[in-house]
Amino acid sequence: MDWPANLISPSLLSADFARLGDETRRVEDAGADWLHVDVMDGHFVPNLTIGPPVVAALKKVARRPLDVHLMISEPKRYAKEYAAAGAHVLTFHWEVAPSASASREVIAAFRDQGVPVVGVSLNPDRRVEELEPILGDVDLVLVMSVFPGFGGQKFMPEVLSKVRWLRAQGFCGHVEMDGGLSEKTIGVCAEAGTNAFVAGSAIFGASDMSATIARMRELARIERDKHDAKRGARA
Ligand code: DX5
Ligand code: ZN
Repeated sequence: MDWPANLISPSLLSADFARLGDETRRVEDAGADWLHVDVMDGHFVPNLTIGPPVVAALKKVARRPLDVHLMISEPKRYAKEYAAAGAHVLTFHWEVAPSASASREVIAAFRDQGVPVVGVSLNPDRRVEELEPILGDVDLVLVMSVFPGFGGQKFMPEVLSKVRWLRAQGFCGHVEMDGGLSEKTIGVCAEAGTNAFVAGSAIFGASDMSATIARMRELARIERDKHDAKRGARA
């Protein structure tokens, strides 16, 4: 089974919010593939971050696609605003629409707005099997490896089995992981079948951001090559 190329998506949550434009340029120059934008509503998660006007402002300066992670209770209601603001990837949480019919309404709202990549995300304490009926409806599954709300938390290795399950089902869209990713943890994520890697504190807290992204990319590539070699051997 083939799946999309590996991508590094630095989380702007760990950037200096007073200098978001400069920080965007800095992380792009350091090698970011996507720019991960954490939207929190103070309701679905106990933190408030940024909204549509800031996403729109980022879109004006960004040269890379915006990977917008909606940690909000009413994603359908705000689909139009985030799409218009320039989200390339738009991901909602399964927990706010935890049935095939409810989540298909959110997915349809995103698609109606022309969102190029529609994603669904899952908290660490939800069973991934719940997503089975909608796997054919989404382009991306975001497996949370921390409880959402804050950067700088510890990676939860117990969620890796969800990634393996998704690939074992034949899901060949993007599988993204978010929370606690670093040079220490990216290898196991890639080994499980993840191809999109979000990291906030590991990248923005690095003394040499370019070197850190390059090393993370290399560690992911090594595991990806093993998958590709296995696939080649089977073919
Ligand atoms: C957590 C956010 C993450 C966060 C990751 O709620 O969804 O994107 O910024 O930060 P690190 O990489 O520091 O765990
Ligand atoms: Zn996120």
